[in-house]
Amino acid sequence: MSSNRLTVQPEPSHFTLRRGHLRAGAGVPAVAQVGVRTPRLDRATALLRDQLERVGGGFEVTIDCRAVSPPYPALDDDESYRLEVGSDGISIDANTEWGVLRGLATLRLLVRVDRSGARAPCVSIDDAPRFSWRGLMLDPARRFQSVAAIERTLDGMALVKLNVLHLHLSDDQGFRFEGSTFPELARAASSEFYSSADLERIVAYAADRGIRVVPEIDMPGHCTSWLAAHPEWTSDGEQRAPSTRFGVHRACLDPSRDLVYEAISRLLADVARVFPDRFIHVGGDEVDPTWWTQNDEIRRYMAAHSLDDVEALHAHFNARMQRMVKDLGRRMIGWDEIAHADLPKDTVVQSWRGAAARDRAIGRGFDCIFSSGYYVDLFYPADIHYGFDPQASDDELTGVEARMRSDPRLAHVRDGLGWATEFNAAARVPDTERAGAGSGRVLGGEACLWSELVDERCLDLRLWERLPAIAERLWSKVTCIDVSAMRWRLAATVAALPHFTDIDVDAQRTAALVGMGLTPVDRRHLAPLLDAVECVKWYARLLGERALRARVTGATTTAERPYRTDTALDRFADFLPVESPTAAKLDVLVDRLLRDPQHGATRRAIAGITRRWRQQHQRFNAVATRVGSVAELSALSAMLGELADITDRAVERCSTEDDAKRLSELAIPSGEYVLAVVHPLHRLVTAT
Ligand code: ACM
Repeated sequence: MSSNRLTVQPEPSHFTLRRGHLRAGAGVPAVAQVGVRTPRLDRATALLRDQLERVGGGFEVTIDCRAVSPPYPALDDDESYRLEVGSDGISIDANTEWGVLRGLATLRLLVRVDRSGARAPCVSIDDAPRFSWRGLMLDPARRFQSVAAIERTLDGMALVKLNVLHLHLSDDQGFRFEGSTFPELARAASSEFYSSADLERIVAYAADRGIRVVPEIDMPGHCTSWLAAHPEWTSDGEQRAPSTRFGVHRACLDPSRDLVYEAISRLLADVARVFPDRFIHVGGDEVDPTWWTQNDEIRRYMAAHSLDDVEALHAHFNARMQRMVKDLGRRMIGWDEIAHADLPKDTVVQSWRGAAARDRAIGRGFDCIFSSGYYVDLFYPADIHYGFDPQASDDELTGVEARMRSDPRLAHVRDGLGWATEFNAAARVPDTERAGAGSGRVLGGEACLWSELVDERCLDLRLWERLPAIAERLWSKVTCIDVSAMRWRLAATVAALPHFTDIDVDAQRTAALVGMGLTPVDRRHLAPLLDAVECVKWYARLLGERALRARVTGATTTAERPYRTDTALDRFADFLPVESPTAAKLDVLVDRLLRDPQHGATRRAIAGITRRWRQQHQRFNAVATRVGSVAELSALSAMLGELADITDRAVERCSTEDDAKRLSELAIPSGEYVLAVVHPLHRLVTAT
């Protein structure tokens, strides 16, 4: 990779890389503070010193912070910093503590460690973020995540300069906020929830890293879990346990009752006591209005308040939420369903349903957080997320969505993606409204990791092999769009994580495979297959084949979905990389071979891959006799042997008509898996 690149991700907005490196001295690192000193900066520098010492980074670092920052970070903080690596040492200076923390993250990613010790490239960096809201949403409501897991996630976020942790604390399946006003909500729903002390600890840990914590209590839908303790807050009134199913549920708070508003008001005050952030998220997504339309009292309430339909009723509910949140001195945020024209404009809208929903919110004067390109639970490759810019025009985003529909890696869910596009287009508003006078601002974006298919054993795998790319999109310049450079920085970031955090994706993956009963020899024998396979994308796993078909054809189905909250996540689908490493290698090799069909090294590299593909099936069968969970990959293992022959013929330029046809068949998923290496080979076969 060319030497004018930095390993730092997100790429700094301005930098000048000079010749040479600063080598770490033999002694312990020395970190001096020459500006203001605060307990937070003392803790940050002590942590840096320990980490540098562990990697043999005996550097001299000088930190100059101009001013003391408030106790908690806030939207629109100055996060700029300057960092200099020269022959005489390293210096970081910033106007705020937040800027210093960002500079320390950059310094960590500059350090390279090899056999001759630690070094950092000589460089001048003058850096500041493009967006002020750079978030990650975690969903401990579906599957609980421990405080320790959240703390290590905060460490990773700090390393890539993400600055908002959004905690989705309640949903149909769980209520994780204990608080002091209605502790029975959490306690009746499950034994797993956060005490106020847990959450205060998370908030403090985050603030030490310059990260805000935004709590979400999702209302008025997604509230089945509330019924265990307070069924009387709904028109249905039936006590029941939290749901173990996923998908949209009917449970809905009753917006016609004073007692409901009184309870929510006290609950939100409780939330505000624990979370100091200026923003409180009230959800508002996916409200199934069945309980509302079936209830006479609610119909009378609507008539009395001149509310014509359920949208107006939801807007009325949100307006009352907004007043409560405002009375607490906070700003309300909600999913894009809440963006009703009459809602006060200090509400922030989090758009998750494409450009149309974003533009409706902006046009109606709401500030907006862009999330629709950043659902990391959908198993998309990193470059797909990277291609979504929060400020791209509607046309540009429509183009990105069209490219996704023609992307061979997503071909197996093309119908589903088409459905999503139609769904988004239905939300489109007239140009006149989009160009509304009180246009809102795009504050930034937020990656979302919904946790139907995520528990702690795969949390790091689901985040860290792709999230840094989104962090870069939200921090770096709008012109920072080169995918191969992004991937190079991404690989360096993933490799740096274990040095500076408790996140180690390779270790987490290995631990999972060990947990499946696979010995080191087994893992070696399965590697050619596991490196070639991906799990299916989009909602294909979550919906299952029948529900998926029903969704894209617009039919309703009672088909049982394959996953529930108590379904163990202990199969290859849970641990495989989202992007097959062999497919990535083949992509490069195929490009080279198409340029130079006789290139010896390239031909040998491909031959090495196909040889391992041929050998693996027999070895696979031997493993499968001992480890039952391997069996679901049996068909793919056989297909990989077949693919070896097709590949070798293509390299020799003697592909047959049947080969191209067979490749298309081999690209069809087998259960929850798809042979990802087919796509680069398809290019080779069709070219030859
Ligand atoms: C959402 O994905 N239901 C906000």
